[in-house]
Amino acid sequence: MIEVDSLTKRYAETVAVDAVTFNVGEGEIVGFLGPNGAGKTTTMRMLTCFMPATSGTAAVAGFDIFTHSLEVRQNVGYLPENNPLYPEMRVREYLNFRARIKGVPRKERKARIEDRMQQCGIDDVQRRLIGHLSKGYRQRVGLAEALIHSPKILILDEPTVGLDPNQIRDARQLIKGLGKDHTIMLSTHRLEDVEAICGRVIIIHEGRIVASDTPDNLRQRLAGAFTLKVEVRGPSEQVGKALETIPNVARIQRRDAKDVAEFSIEAKEDIREEIFQCIAKNGWVLRELHREHLRLEEVFAQMTEKEHAPAAAEKAEEKDPEKEEKK
Ligand SMILES: Nc1ncnc2c1ncn2[C@@H]1O[C@H](COP(=O)(O)OP(=O)(O)OP(=O)(O)O)[C@@H](O)[C@H]1O
Ligand SMILES: [Mg+2]
Repeated sequence: MIEVDSLTKRYAETVAVDAVTFNVGEGEIVGFLGPNGAGKTTTMRMLTCFMPATSGTAAVAGFDIFTHSLEVRQNVGYLPENNPLYPEMRVREYLNFRARIKGVPRKERKARIEDRMQQCGIDDVQRRLIGHLSKGYRQRVGLAEALIHSPKILILDEPTVGLDPNQIRDARQLIKGLGKDHTIMLSTHRLEDVEAICGRVIIIHEGRIVASDTPDNLRQRLAGAFTLKVEVRGPSEQVGKALETIPNVARIQRRDAKDVAEFSIEAKEDIREEIFQCIAKNGWVLRELHREHLRLEEVFAQMTEKEHAPAAAEKAEEKDPEKEEKK
């Protein structure tokens, strides 16, 4: 549904997007994950024909973004970063205005607007001024607008940014539901968004793609993907030694406090149950055990390190004369 080949965007001095290549298949929900300035918005703007690419090619719903921008726009619903709505307009009025601009036939407009308001859970605020809505509701209005012309593909730029935890949960549910009959590409800073909604994640860093995988595989590839905090009442050295014997432990840090020892354990798997059993078996007291979320910065640090290493190895392989001869 989205095919991108060596797409590049250069500003005067910066290369914002540097020859990115990726595909999004029909029905997929793909997360586009990257830190500030990684090139997420720039890529999405090129794919939605809001900004011309410097070089490379891309086809969206089978249409070339350079030569068929009208068709691309007809097939894509785009929720831009900072979702620019009209604060002085009422929700229903705004959707009607957008439906008209997007060419929804007059006869179908009313039913279409009703349907999208229902779908996005905004029918109870349809007469409110957009400027008076909460951030979460404004995002829903943005989604309803993106859906108004019945596109097959949704490109959502940070749909959960600025929302409180309840709103984030609702937004994820809504997007997941939309994924049943849409192909979706969404950008985010949050690894948890990707884990909750996406079947696949593409990681972009400094304009380049450094990984494309399922969230599960990605976690597995990361050393110390799970950081577990453990607090135990017991002989700290012995406890530490026992914890070290648990399979898949990558690193343990210990901090002794009065009567108790605190451990920070980095592991390749979620080994909370093994930790519990180890402590219980030895008759020690487990005071605390929880998993800390891996910070995105750590993911990027690891991904970029890892991606450089195999690339260098491949280059060395290419130059290996013995291998060349065998070919
Ligand atoms: N209009 C512009 N002129 C010059 N440079 C720009 C322009 N827009 C973006 N950039 C630069 O391009 C790079 C990529 O920006 P982009 O907005 O695509 O990143 P992003 O991944 O969306 O970041 P964020 O998470 O902060 O939204 C950044 O270095 C940014 O400073
Ligand atoms: Mg952005």
